[in-house]
Amino acid sequence: MKRLIDTLRQEHVLAPHQYRALLTTRNPSDVEYLMEQAREVAQQQFGKGIFLRGLIELSNVCRNDCLYCGIRCSNCHVTRYTLTREQVLACCEQGYAIGFRTFVIQGGEWGEERSRWIADLISEIRHGWPDCAITLSLGEHPRETYALWREAGADRYLLRHEAHNSRLYSLLHPAGMAIRSRLQCLEWLKELGYQVGAGIMVGAPYQSMRNIVEDIEYLIGFHPHMIGIGPFIPQHDTPFARFPAGSIDLTTRLYAILRLALPQALIPSTTAIATLAPDGRRRGILAGANVVMPNLSPEGNRKQYALYDNKAALGGESAQGIKVLENDLATIGYHIDWSRGDSPDI
Ligand code: 5AD
Repeated sequence: MKRLIDTLRQEHVLAPHQYRALLTTRNPSDVEYLMEQAREVAQQQFGKGIFLRGLIELSNVCRNDCLYCGIRCSNCHVTRYTLTREQVLACCEQGYAIGFRTFVIQGGEWGEERSRWIADLISEIRHGWPDCAITLSLGEHPRETYALWREAGADRYLLRHEAHNSRLYSLLHPAGMAIRSRLQCLEWLKELGYQVGAGIMVGAPYQSMRNIVEDIEYLIGFHPHMIGIGPFIPQHDTPFARFPAGSIDLTTRLYAILRLALPQALIPSTTAIATLAPDGRRRGILAGANVVMPNLSPEGNRKQYALYDNKAALGGESAQGIKVLENDLATIGYHIDWSRGDSPDI
């Protein structure tokens, strides 16, 4: 097994059954070796600095109906909100003062009639904070919309592919959504010059080990700048309420494999992994993750942006908790890197 891990580190690719072996081995010393190697590669690339992204949850209004997601349009228990432009700018103001140099505007998927409004918001942020990166995470849109937002000043776009296997993708999403449209969006985003992020949920309902291997192979082929991966966590008002959460163990193995396959990738230790266990975020970093995304949203709206149950939004997951985060990182010998943290690939 150690030979496999060395090969992955040197050649950045393995055969499908070999990924599977790394994902399923029961030998703790193999898993520890995998984590060590991933950590070393992350440190070669980024040192012991962890990049921060300030997450601004723009709106929980969503036209989409993904079966796993708490803000799906058919969930009538959600109180819908959309931040005003003033509220968003105030988040940036506060975030900038704390030291954030990347703002992530994330929200439910809206219709195109509001794309102009978003473009105007992006240009205001661009002009207000010219030294900051603007990341969008607003779902699927036509190429022209992505182009409009790029021209307005957005630099990066997060759009998890969720499942490369089309059957699994269909089990997770409503009729009418298809993996090929998602992959098309990701291609457009790259063509338009965005730094692009893709990724999946680990332990999503119906997901097999084989599906995860397929996702690894897709990610290696697509070569995204960023990789967003977190465990699935059930939300009580969704059709998947009764499915079990994904595991931290499998999530960290995936971080480590992808770190070895794509040494330069920006890999966040996600809020979902931090939600599952108090040491979740640290375990992600020790598996080769190098980004954390604290919440900059107005305190009053956070509960309404419940993609899953018990979502961590306090302590180290909030901008106010930055001291907590710093201390947490210090316990494993890491620190915050306050730079913009662009992809080394660009
Ligand atoms: N558990 C974990 N992650 C989730 N997401 C949405 N719902 C859940 C859930 N129940 C993730 C999706 C989406 C990202 C914004 O949040 O992968 O791409």
